[in-house]
Amino acid sequence: MMRRRVPGAGGRGPGNDEGGRGTGRKRPRRPSSSSRHPAPDTLHPTPYTRHPGDNFAKVDASRFKDVAELAAAVSACRACPLSATRKNAVPGEGGGRKGIVLVGEAPGAKEDAQGRPFMGQAGKILNGLLKKHGVLREEVFITNVVKCRPPKNRPPKPAEVAACRPYIERQLELLGPAVVCPMGNSATRALLDPKANITNVHGKAVERGGLVFFPLYHPAATLYNRKLLKGLEEDFSSLGKLPRGRTGTQRRLFSGEG
Ligand code: URA
Ligand code: SF4
Repeated sequence: MMRRRVPGAGGRGPGNDEGGRGTGRKRPRRPSSSSRHPAPDTLHPTPYTRHPGDNFAKVDASRFKDVAELAAAVSACRACPLSATRKNAVPGEGGGRKGIVLVGEAPGAKEDAQGRPFMGQAGKILNGLLKKHGVLREEVFITNVVKCRPPKNRPPKPAEVAACRPYIERQLELLGPAVVCPMGNSATRALLDPKANITNVHGKAVERGGLVFFPLYHPAATLYNRKLLKGLEEDFSSLGKLPRGRTGTQRRLFSGEG
């Protein structure tokens, strides 16, 4: 029900998550050399430029002392036009420090109705994967790069991502997670590299700004493309094997040294 977007339309569906190949997308993709682009060295390279009319209120998230305080502010946020159409903002929820942070694109209809992340079809798949691979919900914080539902589940606009970005940045600072998993193209591009293609970067750890990032396929990708199931399973299997809370060990594990 939630996934009404046309596959390949660039949203929270598989066309987005598999890099748009073979999904009958209507508009031809710009020829892209994304697979050959090395990720930049800095965290949050601010890939989005503002356009006239996109001067949304600037969110100052640095003032929040904890994730609960931040969540309360998100619920009342009016910084961008998505606040006009949402029912409930979805700040994110879950475990505390040193855990895993999973980051999706934006809330859908069920999430908007409940104010909680990953409540629909994608959430069911996500829960199944976490359980199967031994990741406890208590050690996982789940959120999205954009906290309010875009109308009709359209992909969030770059200016909306930019407006909302201070919240995810502050959440990562406050949570100090052992690993951050952007799920799918949208989150990976927002957090790591605007040119990243999830097909190329999923299941590989990279370090940025003192955090370990481990991009995963988006759980909803498999709703449209069964071929991604194997990759998705492998991603969550690797995630389940991480020694959480021991960042040094984890780095060695990721880099294949130990
Ligand atoms: N898909 C997302 O990316 N986020 C949600 O919260 C639900 C579905
Ligand atoms: Fe505020 Fe983000 Fe919601 Fe826009 S999407 S109103 S910036 S919480």
